[in-house]
Amino acid sequence: MSDNALKPVPAHVAIIMDGNGRWAKAKGLERSAGHFEGVNAVHRITEAASHLGVKYLTLYAFSTENWNRPQEEVDALLNLISFALERETPGLIANNARLEIIGDIDRMPEEAQQRLRRSMAATAHGTGLTVVVAFSYSSRWEITRACREIARKAAAGEIDPETITDETVSQHLATASYPDPDLLIRTGGDMRLSNFLLWQVAYAEIFVTDTYWPDFSVDEFKSAIDNFRCRERRFGRTSEQINHSL
Ligand code: FPP
Repeated sequence: MSDNALKPVPAHVAIIMDGNGRWAKAKGLERSAGHFEGVNAVHRITEAASHLGVKYLTLYAFSTENWNRPQEEVDALLNLISFALERETPGLIANNARLEIIGDIDRMPEEAQQRLRRSMAATAHGTGLTVVVAFSYSSRWEITRACREIARKAAAGEIDPETITDETVSQHLATASYPDPDLLIRTGGDMRLSNFLLWQVAYAEIFVTDTYWPDFSVDEFKSAIDNFRCRERRFGRTSEQINHSL
């Protein structure tokens, strides 16, 4: 068996699900049709992640900047995401998965918030895959909020500023209870991070594909994971150091 075959699957995969609009346009359909088909992709990739033994799957479903889209599209996305999560909840429970949300969900209509909270509560005991949906999320929102909280604690004398480390910052992010992503996948071909998990992807391997999200298949997901398993992660050290410590 080669060394590569011994490398484990990534514990945490994060995905920027891009290209729904272009997928729809290429087929002469409304953008909402792309988002609708995107939900089917969420279903199959979540299932595949669970079967492959991935422990955390973080999906960028709606960014802080997405609030600036035409109101009609925002409303359609809000409805779609909350209905989809509610529809998927029994399947998540059956697969021992847990649903969590990161982001400023207070901006959502009250009814949609309640629906999300019900789904989270219903899956809270899952010990398999944790599906983290980033909703009304942006890294700068999250980091700013963490700074505010750390500064408040420092002003109250609860934290000594001299003792603040990168771990302190991590512990004040919305992702405090998850390990950092090992693999970041972006569909739709753009080479950017779009304000997603900027702090957490410091050492993530990045896989970008031109495939639009609604077409992203389980086979391509597996290829991304196989590709990850072949890479050498050095975390700033040299190849020799890494091989010596094996
Ligand atoms: C980006 O495509 C995609 C989104 C803004 C929304 C993604 C949302 C879903 C797939 C819905 C389901 C999510 C869950 C977790 C149930 P885009 O519209 O920016 O596409 P474009 O770049 O081609 O215009």
